[in-house]
Amino acid sequence: MKAWKSGVVFILVLNAAVCHVTTLEGELADSISGNFLDPIKDLLNDRDDSNQTVARFSLRKPSHPDADQCYIVPGRADTLAACTFNRTSKTFMVIHGWTLSGMFESWVSKLVSALYEREHGANVIVVDWLTLAQNHYVLAAQKTKAVGQEIARFIDWIEESTNAPVENIHLIGYSLGAHVAGFAGSHVTNKVGRITGLDPAGPDFEGMHAHRRLSPDDAHFVDVLHTFTRGSLGLSIGIQQPVGHVDIYPNGGSFQPGCNLRGTLEKIANFGIFAITDAVKCEHERSVHLFIDSLLNEQDAAQAYRCSSSQTFNRGMCLSCRKSRCNTVGYDISKVRKARNVQMYTKTRATMPFRVYHYQLKIHFSSKVNRSEMEPSLTVSLYGTKGEAENLELKLKEKIAVNKTHSFLLVTEKDVGDLLMLTFKWEETNSWSSSRLLKMVSSWWGGDSGGADVQVHKIRVRAGETQQKMVFCVKNPDVQNLMREVTFVRCKDALRTSGKRVTLENHRP
Ligand SMILES: *[C@@H]1O[C@H](CO)[C@@H](O)[C@H](O)[C@H]1NC(C)=O
Ligand SMILES: *[C@@H]1O[C@H](CO)[C@@H](O)[C@H](O)[C@H]1NC(C)=O
Ligand SMILES: *[C@@H]1O[C@H](CO)[C@@H](O)[C@H](O)[C@H]1NC(C)=O
Ligand SMILES: *[C@@H]1O[C@H](CO)[C@@H](O)[C@H](O)[C@H]1NC(C)=O
Repeated sequence: MKAWKSGVVFILVLNAAVCHVTTLEGELADSISGNFLDPIKDLLNDRDDSNQTVARFSLRKPSHPDADQCYIVPGRADTLAACTFNRTSKTFMVIHGWTLSGMFESWVSKLVSALYEREHGANVIVVDWLTLAQNHYVLAAQKTKAVGQEIARFIDWIEESTNAPVENIHLIGYSLGAHVAGFAGSHVTNKVGRITGLDPAGPDFEGMHAHRRLSPDDAHFVDVLHTFTRGSLGLSIGIQQPVGHVDIYPNGGSFQPGCNLRGTLEKIANFGIFAITDAVKCEHERSVHLFIDSLLNEQDAAQAYRCSSSQTFNRGMCLSCRKSRCNTVGYDISKVRKARNVQMYTKTRATMPFRVYHYQLKIHFSSKVNRSEMEPSLTVSLYGTKGEAENLELKLKEKIAVNKTHSFLLVTEKDVGDLLMLTFKWEETNSWSSSRLLKMVSSWWGGDSGGADVQVHKIRVRAGETQQKMVFCVKNPDVQNLMREVTFVRCKDALRTSGKRVTLENHRP
């Protein structure tokens, strides 16, 4: 009876989760449909917002990162002094996005706190445009320009009244707030130093001209993290196109680890029905937490690599750091001002610190006999000077063909140090087993005993984080001939033993 009840609850909860997603996407779909939009556009165009107060500027204290105790009011120099604005320090302006609740989300105080943690004497100002941000999405999106203009006037006033260099100003905008930052940057008299866009909003901005969204023109340096660019009904909550000097797409810019439906259900089990909203926002908001991570865990900074596409990155092809092809994720990113829209990729863990270690494995599978393409499951364990990472799945991005070199991306959560040894395991999937059986029968009839075996002589490894390149050879081919797990060591160690090949596939009795 109890089991039956919990089953019903489970289904209800699942439906609720699905409904919520549908409503959010439905809301956005409605928002961008033309019919609905036109009257609102007319309404907006009739009003001149340029002179209206639409934002408030709260200088938060390191001791109270969650409390708005002191507002700086443009035109009133006394408020600068009252809030102890330090004109020689860096100034961060944190700009929130669209909100359903009309309240600051919990990440705001976490980000403020992390900024103070890293830059002790800084001025961290939270821009409050909640009254406009809690409108219907399309209205809030329309208002980003007005809010940006007001921030620009605020920055101009700060510069005039304190002589603080605008180069020291760093705007950090999340979702719609990223475009607010863009408008602020394009309307300010002197360019601000940096804008960080944290998963800039997609609907109403994707494909727009550069001056109608965040773009590299808006600051001396614009860096962007894209975490929720998964299209649905032709829309994506986070903007898919690159909009900064450097655009980093962690985990391809979608499907962030730890944000899956399974995670959602676990959260609901632990925290109740209110966890649903959190779970839906998880991927979008991941951009903020990656940035917070980069502030708090400077030593564990994640690295991103320039690549033409997520697919190519997932085959381990882009782990080079030559000619600034790699960069640090988040706060410590190197400013590459010449290039625009440089797309970079990285993998992450599910929780903070998010960094992982990237490896490219290049493996040549050889065979005397031509075989149809194979889909084995490949497992690798790494052993290094600092530890080991065992049973890592080598994800196949294409079927294995013989006499061909395949490239794989392998990531570990653990820092194994300098690689000393690795083991490699080849297991057949079911479909392959049956064809292998056929092959065995035919080779038996043909009198061919071992010719169908696939062999690996060497594994070439490039470590992304250390840029080390290594070649691994079979440790002991004679002994390990019949074993399914093969050990590889650095080639100079293996030379002594033998130059012989190892056979991965062997006939079983
Ligand atoms: C509008 O701006 C002008 C200066 O640009 C100012 O004199 C005037 O007071 C402002 N009006 C309102 C309603 O804020
Ligand atoms: C302002 O910040 C600088 C460092 O950026 C520090 O040396 C100075 O003491 C600060 N001034 C005040 C009044 O706190
Ligand atoms: C693979 O290459 C080896 C050595 O070059 C050769 O002997 C073998 O016939 C090739 N296999 C196929 C299927 O072409
Ligand atoms: C090997 O077999 C595949 C089909 O399974 C064929 O496309 C390919 O041309 C063959 N290669 C050689 C070298 O015979």
